[in-house]
Amino acid sequence: MAWKTLDEMDLAGKVVLVRVDINVPVENGVVTDATRIEKIAPTVKDILAKGGKPVLLAHFGRPKGKPVPEMSLRPLVPELAKALGVPVKFAEDCIGAPAKTAVAALAAGEVLLLENTRFHAGEEKNDPELSAAMAALGEVYVNDAFSAAHRAHSSTEGVAHILPAVAGRLMAAELKALEAALGNPVRPVTAVVGGAKVSTKLDLLGNLVSKVDHLVIGGGMANTFLVAQGIDVGKSLAEREMAETAREILEKAAAAGCAIHLPADVVVAREFKAGAENEVVGNADCPADAMILDAGPKSVEEIAKVFEASKTLIWNGPLGAFEIAPFDAATNAAAQKAADLTKAGKLVSVAGGGDTVAALNKAGAAEDFSYISTAGGAFLEWMEGKELPGVAALMK
Ligand code: 3PG
Ligand code: MG
Repeated sequence: MAWKTLDEMDLAGKVVLVRVDINVPVENGVVTDATRIEKIAPTVKDILAKGGKPVLLAHFGRPKGKPVPEMSLRPLVPELAKALGVPVKFAEDCIGAPAKTAVAALAAGEVLLLENTRFHAGEEKNDPELSAAMAALGEVYVNDAFSAAHRAHSSTEGVAHILPAVAGRLMAAELKALEAALGNPVRPVTAVVGGAKVSTKLDLLGNLVSKVDHLVIGGGMANTFLVAQGIDVGKSLAEREMAETAREILEKAAAAGCAIHLPADVVVAREFKAGAENEVVGNADCPADAMILDAGPKSVEEIAKVFEASKTLIWNGPLGAFEIAPFDAATNAAAQKAADLTKAGKLVSVAGGGDTVAALNKAGAAEDFSYISTAGGAFLEWMEGKELPGVAALMK
């Protein structure tokens, strides 16, 4: 993989359109996690250092093609200014007169944020006219929004075909980390896939079994695999109609030489609530009136051994009901193990996906991972082996 980077560009005096993903969680007007905003700072600062004028294109929420005041990007200006350490101006529209006037008024050392690209119906349609109107504002296009690169929208894809287009620092870091984890990894490589449903991660599992040496399956989807092996899982969450599909994945894995690791023991409870009375049983011994809420200690031991024997780890999805203690125990322990091995220089560990990052943060393990992606859906699609249009447009 070879993508064009900022290093190849002379930006002095140029207006640089930068697609960023600052689609951050906001509660009662307060940004509750500014990670995505902080992560774009190196790119923007680099552009400023090279004498360029950064003009930021971004979406926020899903306004569906019309202006929705609650989804304006304006309230993010102070948070951006804080992260970038420079004045941030704002334009009421991402194209047309308001944008042009604001670009013309932009002084050296300042940054301009344009209003939500998704206020235009053309954005999600990748409308050539909208792409052209965006491109008309600048001379160079930088895409730093890996987490939106699974969308073929005007601001993520269309513009890249009109202006000279390169990857920003965050985009390049994401691509490099993913390449090291799955594209061209040091083996053995292990994938952890958790979460509730097999049905939402079919493509993912199908792609992984042909690429990794070990696949650790956890969460609700592990129950579906137990069902596929004729095991009664009581009241556990499981997609019983997916049993045949799960068997096909197991066969594909066997043929590809990928070892599948399902929990050997499980933590069961009668209620889905924090602190619910629980016990550890073998994976075939879930009582009829109970449900599996986590992997058990023996499973965690096995996972630790798999990690120890691995050189590369890619992780998506929690192993149990990590939101409620004590059913976060397996996720926490496995995450800690991965973090320790990474810190010791024995493992390259990469994780992504909204829930996953929340779980690893909760486990206090995220900091020690080699790389934590800012992406949710894009990370998943990349793991599924799909081409991301926003990335494809940056390739040499
Ligand atoms: C995200 O948060 O997943 C990205 O910003 C993309 O947003 P979308 O899922 O609404 O396209
Ligand atoms: Mg998404």
